[in-house]
Amino acid sequence: MAEWHIGVIGGSGLYQPGALDDAQEIPVGSAFGKPSGPVTTGRIAGVRFTFIARHGPGHALSPSYVNYRANIDALKRCGVTDILAISAIGSLAEEMEPGQFVAVDQLIDRTTGRERSFFGDGIVAHVPMADPICPRLSGYAIKAAKKTEATVHETGTYVAIEGPQFSTRAESLMYRSWGAHVIGMTAMPEARLAREAELPYALLGMVTDYDCWRDAVADVDVADILAVMQANADIARNTLQELASVLPKTRKASPIDTVLETAIVTPPEHWA
Ligand code: ADE
Repeated sequence: MAEWHIGVIGGSGLYQPGALDDAQEIPVGSAFGKPSGPVTTGRIAGVRFTFIARHGPGHALSPSYVNYRANIDALKRCGVTDILAISAIGSLAEEMEPGQFVAVDQLIDRTTGRERSFFGDGIVAHVPMADPICPRLSGYAIKAAKKTEATVHETGTYVAIEGPQFSTRAESLMYRSWGAHVIGMTAMPEARLAREAELPYALLGMVTDYDCWRDAVADVDVADILAVMQANADIARNTLQELASVLPKTRKASPIDTVLETAIVTPPEHWA
């Protein structure tokens, strides 16, 4: 019987020790360097969840310094079947208001210089990325978030910027003209690497600000982001509790589970 095992990548306040049954902190290594920190695993309503704090204990890692490969590899080694990312995002769309949630369904990558693949030197693979988000997991995350008092937008295009600085006004307006709805600094290359690791990936973003395109409100700053995150932390945590109850008892196979079967170009006899 296939069981769900949800890997959660998010802020360090996302799980409360009491909320997990049989919680254990595990130091996990990776062949790709150091993950952001230890992982914490346990069960919520019988479903296994394994957490990693993306920015490390104490939020000491800037988005450019997060070792996305090591984090995804560590979760894979822990046996997670699916990944739910939970992140603060800026809004590029009037209707996506601070305090609301967006189940992102498309991504635009404007990051630069981050390690974005497990492949390239020895084994070449090209995984499909047309739909970077798993609709099944995203659907369950939406259902779960709606069971809390959250307002949830069910779709949205996320533009991932390198940061750590916020965007210029011209950039913000340009991203809007591209059709992006929300903005953040971490979903790429996280989603690419999850795909390569054959892990369905969904992203629930918490809107914390209107970036800097909207005349009527002040431009984004860190204080705004932290205030909204704190005010909504319970909703994010409750969403995970609800997720455990909306997931079906058993997990049916996803096409992502075997995506590498048709993505590797290098014949096995040439694998380095
Ligand atoms: N994370 C939260 N708000 C953001 C913004 N406006 N730009 C980039 N990343 C963000």
